Amino acid sequence: MITIENLTVSFGAVQALRDVTMQVETGKITAVLGANGAGKTTLLRTISGLKEPVQGSILLDGRPLVRERPENIARMGVGHVPEGRGVIGEFTVEENLRLGAMITKAPLNEGLDEQYRQFPVLGERRKQHAAKLSGGERQMLAMARALIARPTVLLLDEPSLGLAPIVTAQLMHTIHDLCSSRNLTVILVEQNASSALRIADHAVVLHLGTVVANDAASTVAADEKLRQYYLGMVE
Ligand SMILES: Nc1ncnc2c1ncn2[C@@H]1O[C@H](COP(=O)(O)OP(=O)(O)OP(=O)(O)O)[C@@H](O)[C@H]1O
Ligand SMILES: [Mg+2]
Repeated sequence: MITIENLTVSFGAVQALRDVTMQVETGKITAVLGANGAGKTTLLRTISGLKEPVQGSILLDGRPLVRERPENIARMGVGHVPEGRGVIGEFTVEENLRLGAMITKAPLNEGLDEQYRQFPVLGERRKQHAAKLSGGERQMLAMARALIARPTVLLLDEPSLGLAPIVTAQLMHTIHDLCSSRNLTVILVEQNASSALRIADHAVVLHLGTVVANDAASTVAADEKLRQYYLGMVE
């Protein structure tokens, strides 16, 4: 379980997160939703140690993450798939996966085999440069690169960005499968609220850095006011 309490994060005079308190349950998908600038990316970057908060705490199964180094947080089991995916286009699919495996002592070949079983298209394209992949394939590679380090928590920043609706639907299905088959704890950041709410157990809605809703995904999905004012889900 991840417990976040009174988290405040600033960039100079801009408070990107203000007094954010929320919990993320083990083995469940928690969607973090909200418009541009809501603070979603900042939340993930603070959890993985890339940004230091002004105030507040983040505990992973009781262990504090704030002021830990990002590489230690990754070794504690937190995998981060950044906004824009962050795969290296000039590297082959396999080279990208090898990079992801660097922080684990688990045997590389087993890890590669496991990812190619999970994402067969990556196996077929293992020798191709990542720049040649489609958007959906690149997202799979970014996820596989995080998963090869065997995380217990996966932070996904806008995985559906730029993908066609059918590809997004497949991707959400994959995320749901991964979560249930590996008991993975997922924080799914999305502007695409309807796609995320379809697979999420719980949802947190951020607006200008503050939590405006924190409830079961089905409750958030059914709330007309949230849909209209914060999620841009106008019928
Ligand atoms: N490196 C930075 N320097 C200065 N301000 C920043 C920086 N990163 C984020 N911010 C500010 O913090 C606030 C939250 O930004 P953040 O990127 O976390 O939002 P977001 O919800 O991920 O938005 P988006 O949906 O556009 O990705 C915004 O006001 C943004 O301008
Ligand atoms: Mg963002």
